[in-house]
Amino acid sequence: MGFFLYSGILLVTACLATVEATVGSALDTEFYVTWAADHVKFLNSGQELHLTLDNVSGSGFASKNKYLFGNMNMQIKLVPGDSAGTVTAFYLSSQGSNRDELDFEFLGNKSGDPTILQTNVYANGKGDREQRIYLWFDPATEFHTYGVIWNAAYILFMVDEVPVRVFMNNKALGVPYPEKQAMGIFSSIWNGDSWATQGGLVKIDWSYAPFVAAYRNFQTPQTAASSREPLTPAQKSKLDWVKKSYMIYDYCGDKQRYPVPPPECQTNV
Ligand SMILES: *[C@@H]1O[C@H](CO)[C@@H](O)[C@H](O)[C@H]1NC(C)=O
Ligand SMILES: *[C@@H]1O[C@H](CO)[C@@H](O)[C@H](O)[C@H]1NC(C)=O
Repeated sequence: MGFFLYSGILLVTACLATVEATVGSALDTEFYVTWAADHVKFLNSGQELHLTLDNVSGSGFASKNKYLFGNMNMQIKLVPGDSAGTVTAFYLSSQGSNRDELDFEFLGNKSGDPTILQTNVYANGKGDREQRIYLWFDPATEFHTYGVIWNAAYILFMVDEVPVRVFMNNKALGVPYPEKQAMGIFSSIWNGDSWATQGGLVKIDWSYAPFVAAYRNFQTPQTAASSREPLTPAQKSKLDWVKKSYMIYDYCGDKQRYPVPPPECQTNV
């Protein structure tokens, strides 16, 4: 992720936050601007935040606190209209070359064509675990909730209470798992038109700029309960539905890239 550099420079102090329940914290108290303050707006007394991309710059923000485990949620409304070539990333990340990182990346598209949600898991500096889905709604017309439940046993990527990905702690199989490094929460919008839309074929049409992604209702991370089973049966069937109907890429099934699937692919639900 290109934007790690920006945030890495600016996150100087590692302050481990006490994890407690608060609802809908003001974004201007939880976050600070990491990139292009003149492209970032706080609205409604800090209850809403807008990130802008135009032909001059993208923009980004990061949390002041870092967290080791937790249940994190943000509501996001993505770039409306023609968003081809834009990438909006919402992710957790630690610092340094052995960083852990949990990514949501929204790859824009031409008006009417589907946005892709790409997720990725980095552990101990290594990613290459992409999954891609289409969403079952237009993510640019309303706010939807994107969240991560992260504990010692598993990581769940959630979209509006629907699990879209599970990454189990498979340390026993030799798979590194993010469990030692605290992570900050980041977001940015940037020009990804070299790869994002139809593999880079569709470029940004700057006549549609500025491109704006909106954020609200950040839930200060709460302790994520750590049962052995990540999903209830009802959640499991929702995940199966997402995989069957909306998944368009899974690194686990990419035989060219991984002739032998990585070990976690056997056990992730
Ligand atoms: C950037 O966009 C502005 C507003 O549309 C336009 O006036 C300007 O010429 C553009 N600059 C470049 C370098 O394309
Ligand atoms: C954009 O739309 C095209 C055509 O429907 C589709 O193939 C592609 O997966 C969509 N998403 C992106 C990010 O390219």
